Amino acid sequence: MRVALSGTPGTGKTSVAAVLKKQGYSVVHLHAFAKENHCIAGVDKKRNSQLIDMVKLDKAIVKNFTSDALVFFDGHIGHLLNSMDKVILLRCHPKELEKRLLKKKWSAKKRRENIDAEIIDVILCEAVERHPSEDIFEIDTTKKTVEEIATIIVTIVNKNFQPTRRYSIGQIDWSEEILSKNHM
Ligand SMILES: Nc1ncnc2c1ncn2[C@@H]1O[C@H](COP(=O)(O)OP(=O)(O)OP(=O)(O)O)[C@@H](O)[C@H]1O
Ligand SMILES: [Mg+2]
Repeated sequence: MRVALSGTPGTGKTSVAAVLKKQGYSVVHLHAFAKENHCIAGVDKKRNSQLIDMVKLDKAIVKNFTSDALVFFDGHIGHLLNSMDKVILLRCHPKELEKRLLKKKWSAKKRRENIDAEIIDVILCEAVERHPSEDIFEIDTTKKTVEEIATIIVTIVNKNFQPTRRYSIGQIDWSEEILSKNHM
């Protein structure tokens, strides 16, 4: 089972992936994997980030990982990959996300950009465009420790990704934050 662990930057994907790895689960960091497998298409000079060839990356993933074995793919592009069997999205309240992005020492502009993306569900919308709704799960990480989040993910896996009332999509709503942008 190829499982994308995606979400807005700062929601805690890599932190949770580290816990899963410690528990013995296979984790692949998508950006590093893309680099190692020559899936870098160029550089986005404006954002100072590498552009990933998603078609090549999908092919490399299918070639290297079967659907039989459980592997978590950490990275905010995971939900864009057709090679993913399931998608788990980490969500975070904008106020807490601000704190987490500050911890990463991100600039005010980059924090604002990502907080806005979280508020308007950008990643969820992108995921829904590519995957059946029942294959996508959302976890509100705001008041949870990384260990608690890892436990939730393991539970979802152990229940064979059956749709759950708590973690199926569409229940997280940060829209009231649009009206209170001044708090940051
Ligand atoms: N559940 C949590 N509770 C509190 N702090 C957290 C939690 N998860 C992560 N953090 C903190 O938030 C920051 C961002 O976490 P992390 O780097 O894991 O996010 P990410 O989703 O992997 O981001 P990116 O997309 O940029 O790689 C880190 O400083 C981390 O320690
Ligand atoms: Mg990360």
